[in-house]
Amino acid sequence: MHTGDMKLKWAHSHMDVIREVEREFREQRPFRGLRIGMALHVEAKTGILALVLKEGGAEVHLASCNPLSTQDDVVHALRERGVSVHARRGESREEYYENLRRVLDAEPQVIIDDGGDLTTLLHTDYSHLEVWGGSEETTTGVVRLRVMERKGILRFPMFDVNDAMMKHLFDNRYGTGQSTLDGIMTATNLLIAGKTVVVAGYGWCGRGIAMRMRGMGADVIVTEVDPVKAIEARMDGFRVMRMADAIREADFVVTATGMKGVVRKEHLEVAKDGCVLANAGHFDNEIDREALAGMAASRRTARPGVEEYVMPDGRRIYLLSDGRLVNLAAGQGHPVEIMDMSFSLQALTARYIVERRGELENRVYPVPREIDQWVAVARLRTLGIEIDALTEEQIRYLNEWQEGT
Ligand code: NAD
Ligand code: ADE
Repeated sequence: MHTGDMKLKWAHSHMDVIREVEREFREQRPFRGLRIGMALHVEAKTGILALVLKEGGAEVHLASCNPLSTQDDVVHALRERGVSVHARRGESREEYYENLRRVLDAEPQVIIDDGGDLTTLLHTDYSHLEVWGGSEETTTGVVRLRVMERKGILRFPMFDVNDAMMKHLFDNRYGTGQSTLDGIMTATNLLIAGKTVVVAGYGWCGRGIAMRMRGMGADVIVTEVDPVKAIEARMDGFRVMRMADAIREADFVVTATGMKGVVRKEHLEVAKDGCVLANAGHFDNEIDREALAGMAASRRTARPGVEEYVMPDGRRIYLLSDGRLVNLAAGQGHPVEIMDMSFSLQALTARYIVERRGELENRVYPVPREIDQWVAVARLRTLGIEIDALTEEQIRYLNEWQEGT
């Protein structure tokens, strides 16, 4: 068996929730005769989503949403299973867009996007295509969708999977927490315990990264621009500082903000010798790579995925995975059980779009509550956990305003 087959088999056997979805799709065939276009990180868990949609009758066209996250052995295994995959690891910017175009050349009725590049193409070069609707996986993609909605240019309904409870509470926090650590440790093979780790952004991803870095014995400093999140980080027990101060102490800096230019020239000028820079945000613009290259007296590849920049004063700064999301470029992406929940939401939302064709407006919708709940209940069931239900008396109490005690 090839490694890609093994990875798919392993993921499938640990994705208990999406296997339930798969059983329903196999019977109902909700996508019979339809084409689904996807731009997601092409690795094993994404492969399972593609195969589940195919099981539901869809012709699936898949490109990557990042040039460095594709796993070529999985591409091969998916092609053998009849998924049209347009991706390879390390593709150039031109190839990346060419591959997104190939997905759209198939004229999909439904799309699943991660980061918004596929959706953007459907509003520029492919604005002639009729799309029934789609869904977006990540925070950055949702930010872009909301801009389009505000400007009144969104051409079809889009569902915000990121903000479903069963997505961001687990995927962004625990998923990014674990897989970012995995990526950094795999790339560097360096010790975390006793090191100072600066986490930029204390949103859902940042919280997870800070929590897990602390668990590994790091002294964690958080940087933020939101005063409320800054206080939350402080009360969670982390030091909070400006990046300009924090980076002077940092052995590692991990960005997870979705914002550009978080680590800039003025920060790089005062970074400590040996500082390792990594990004977990969607795009590779959080760390100013051009500034780093411009400042450096020399550079070399120190290890696969680790670029060493030597400053004129002799300080060495290491950039992981070219500043692309380190958990997917250097690691395996989120744990299987996490993507099980995220991709179950995606699969069920795709069916919802098909069932509601013609009834939806061109706006950004939340994932229907019943889908979020279904995934939560299914996950609990597969974990073998039972929980209490409200009694009749408790339900009455909820609807009562006179009775206080
Ligand atoms: P979020 O909105 O919950 O949190 C982002 C935080 O960054 C906010 O608290 C914001 O105030 C803060 N921030 C913004 N600009 C900042 C700056 N200049 N300095 C410090 N803090 C700043 O978003 P999230 O869900 O945590 O996602 C963050 C990024 O990670 C997005 O790009 C998202 O798409 C991406 N993401 C990546 C993965 C992954 O697998 N690596 C998974 C989920 C999300
Ligand atoms: N694997 C596939 N898609 C992913 C995502 N958006 N984040 C982390 N791991 C993933």
